[in-house]
Amino acid sequence: MAKVENISFAENFPISYIELEKEAEKKMGAGGFGYVQSGAGGEETLRKNTESFAKYSIVPRMLRNVSVPDTSVTLFGKTYPYPIFLAPIGMQRLEHEEGEIASSRAAAVYHVPFIQSTVSSYSIEEIAAATGSSPKWFQLYWSNHEETAFNMMRRAEEAGYEAIVLTVDTVMMGWREADLRNNFSPLKLGYGKANYESDPVFMSSLKDGDVVRGILDNIHHPTLSWEHVARLKEKTNLPILLKGILHPEDAKLAVEKGIDGIIVSNHGGRQLDGVTAAIDALGPIAKAVNGLIPVLFDSGIRRGSDAVKALALGADAVCLGRPFVYGLAIGGQTGVEKVLANFIEETKVSLSLAGVSSLKEITSLQLIR
Ligand code: FNR
Repeated sequence: MAKVENISFAENFPISYIELEKEAEKKMGAGGFGYVQSGAGGEETLRKNTESFAKYSIVPRMLRNVSVPDTSVTLFGKTYPYPIFLAPIGMQRLEHEEGEIASSRAAAVYHVPFIQSTVSSYSIEEIAAATGSSPKWFQLYWSNHEETAFNMMRRAEEAGYEAIVLTVDTVMMGWREADLRNNFSPLKLGYGKANYESDPVFMSSLKDGDVVRGILDNIHHPTLSWEHVARLKEKTNLPILLKGILHPEDAKLAVEKGIDGIIVSNHGGRQLDGVTAAIDALGPIAKAVNGLIPVLFDSGIRRGSDAVKALALGADAVCLGRPFVYGLAIGGQTGVEKVLANFIEETKVSLSLAGVSSLKEITSLQLIR
């Protein structure tokens, strides 16, 4: 780390998101880069996700002794040093041979919780072995073969994962034009098999032993409903969060149905193009939830001041997505560590300059539209 006055930053490494994306593109094939970078449809939502942050202006407070900002956050009885998670991103061997092993170890360095995707390139048990007791959550894609979903959740629980994130906005794949143009599917190429191949329940459900075919047959589940969520809840003692909530009424339903938390997200603009920017959905949802359950946020977080805005609008924590994936492509574990180091530092500096000495008072930070 280098230092300029009070700022520590990762040297010889892209500073801004634009530079990160450019460097990552040089390292990745066209198919892989298109898969990560692009959004659905005409990419209206992808653009809005980042541009909409500019609609919210921070009105900072002065003279508040911000020398040591308290950035810690407590969720489901566990305290983390920063309100920052790594978002679940599938198939990370697409970016780097060490995939999720590298990114989860980088997260562990900063005690940042790592959310592992169902469609990972390394299994639940491999990630657990690579990261020991550092915090991990498991993101679940429902499976048409229901026992597979339950079994993966059980495996995560046994491996010490602390929560289950059920993604609800992918009942089918979005219309992703870059992937259609490139005829590119990392699932088909076998990048997301690890958790399935290592699951005896899934393997015994296959008729012909073709794992990739089996995943493709199981992963999209248009009939997914609140009844499935209720069944899932019965099967675990871990907190369950729903990822992909954008409507305040769905957030209220989640509270009514005893769900433990939600993640406001539009999947980084990769599912339905034309949906609201995630940051615009956050305020009304936080109001509807009224502190009853934790609200996390992703889709468009690129820098520390974005995190401050999301937290001020009512998020308990934010998840970093594409930025860390680009760090992984550029430099494996070290690349993700550098992205995290810069992001954490910028978040701290932004909180201090906004006059926030503790996250406990962040919702009193004024934003004007
Ligand atoms: C994702 N996302 C995702 N979400 C999920 O629940 N399970 C998954 O396997 C994946 N896989 C995935 C792959 C890639 C390449 C991307 C970019 C995204 C969505 C992810 O968790 C998060 O919602 C978005 O990345 C947030 O948008 P930004 O901030 O990255 O633009």
